Amino acid sequence: MTESTAAAEATSLDRADELASFRDRFRLPLAPDGRPAVYLCGNSLGPMPADAEARVLEQLERWRTLAVRGHHAEPGAWLHYHEQFAAPLGRLVGAAPGEVVAMNTLTVNLNLLLVSFYRPTATRHKILIEHGAFPSDRYAVLSQLQFHGRSATGSLVEVAPRPGEDLLRTEDLVAAIEREREALALVLLPGVQYRTGQVLDVAALTRAARAAGAVAGWDLAHSIGNVPVGLHDAGADFAVWCHYKYVCAGPGAAAGAFVHERHAHDRSLPRFAGWWGHDAATRFAMGPDFVPMPGAEGWQQSNPPVLALAPLVSSLALFESAGLPRLRAKSLALTAFARRQLEARLAGRVEIVTPASDADRGCQLSLRIRSGAAAGRVVFARLMAAGVIGDWREPDVIRLAPAPLFNRFAEVEQAVAALDAALAPP
Ligand SMILES: Cc1ncc(COP(=O)(O)O)c(C=O)c1O
Repeated sequence: MTESTAAAEATSLDRADELASFRDRFRLPLAPDGRPAVYLCGNSLGPMPADAEARVLEQLERWRTLAVRGHHAEPGAWLHYHEQFAAPLGRLVGAAPGEVVAMNTLTVNLNLLLVSFYRPTATRHKILIEHGAFPSDRYAVLSQLQFHGRSATGSLVEVAPRPGEDLLRTEDLVAAIEREREALALVLLPGVQYRTGQVLDVAALTRAARAAGAVAGWDLAHSIGNVPVGLHDAGADFAVWCHYKYVCAGPGAAAGAFVHERHAHDRSLPRFAGWWGHDAATRFAMGPDFVPMPGAEGWQQSNPPVLALAPLVSSLALFESAGLPRLRAKSLALTAFARRQLEARLAGRVEIVTPASDADRGCQLSLRIRSGAAAGRVVFARLMAAGVIGDWREPDVIRLAPAPLFNRFAEVEQAVAALDAALAPP
C-alpha cells in the first residue's frame, strides 16, 4: 500500500463514517508547530469534550450564586448529583444502575472493594493476578495481603505469558485458577491489558474463578468506553475503573465501581464506611450506626465531588448518543485499517504486539520497534515532535489508540506515515 493509496482509502472511509461529526464535539490539542495534533492517546487521557467547560462553569456558577443551598436547590441538587451517572455507566459496563456508582478514584475503589471481597481464611487466602499487572493494582493487592498478615510469597499467584510470548492465554489463566482452587480467595484481572492492549475474556475467566470458589474482580480502566463488557451477565463480583481514559471525563475525574447485585443486600460484607454509603433515607438523621445503602452506592465514602464529576455529564452524553455498538464497529475498522497499513508499509521494522483478532483487541495498538528499545525511544520522540501523540510504556512499547469518538481514518494514515519517517536513519 503506497502512501497515496492509503490516503485515498482513508478519505473514503472518513466520508462513509456515520460517527464523523462527533469529532466536532471535542477540543483537540495542537502539535508543536501549531497544526492540529494527531491525538492517539485517548487510552491514557481522553481529550476534552467541547461541552465540558460549560458543565464545570455551570457548577461554579451554582457555587457562586447558591453556595450551601446548591446541595438542595433543584434542578440539579448536589445531594443527588452522583445518581445521574449510574444508568449510562451501567450501559457501558453491562450492569444494572444499582450495581454501579461513580465515586473516588480507581485505586481507592480497588482498595475499598478488596477490603470487602478479600476475606482470607487459614486455607483460602491466595490472590491471583497477571504478572506485569498495572503497578497500582499490584501495590493494592500487596497492601491488602500485608493488612491481613500475609505475604506475596505465600499468598500471591502471578500468571505470566509463556516464555517468548507477550500475551496471556486464557487457558493458562484458567489452568492456574484450577490448580490453586483449594487456596484461591480472589482473582483480579484487567479487562484490557494496559501494555499490550489485549482484551481478556471476562465471562470465561469470571466463570473459572467462581467455579473455583474464588471472588472475581476486574480492573476495567482500559475497557470502559473502549470495548463492550457484560459484568452482570458474566457474574463478576466487583469491578473498578477510571473515567479519564476512553470516557474523556478529564484528568483525575471521579472513577467508577461495580458490585454485583447478589451482594446488594449482604450487610455481612465488611467494608470501610462513610456517611455517603449510609442509607439515603436516614443519612441526615445523623445516627451513630452505619446502615449501608443497598447496592454499589453503599460503598461511597463522601459526598459527591461535583467539580470532578461535571465533565462526565458531557462525555456520557456523547457515548449515549453515539452508542457503544456503533463506536465498537468504527473502532474495529480504524484499528484494522491501521494494522493493514503497518503491515504493508512497515513490515520487518515494527512489530504489532496487540492481538490481531477482533475479539481480542480494543482501540489500542501496541508497537515495538524491531531494532530495540533504545531505537524505540528515539522513534517515539520523533513521533511526538511530528505531532502524533501516543505514549511510551516501559520497557519498549509505543501505544497508539485511535478512538472512534474523535479520530479519523486520515489520522491513522498520517500516524503511519509519521512512523515511517521516524524510522528513517537520522
Ligand atoms: C490498568 C490501570 N489500573 C489502575 C490505574 C490507576 O489509576 P488511578 O491513578 O486513577 O488510581 C491505571 C492508570 O492509568 C491503569 O491504567
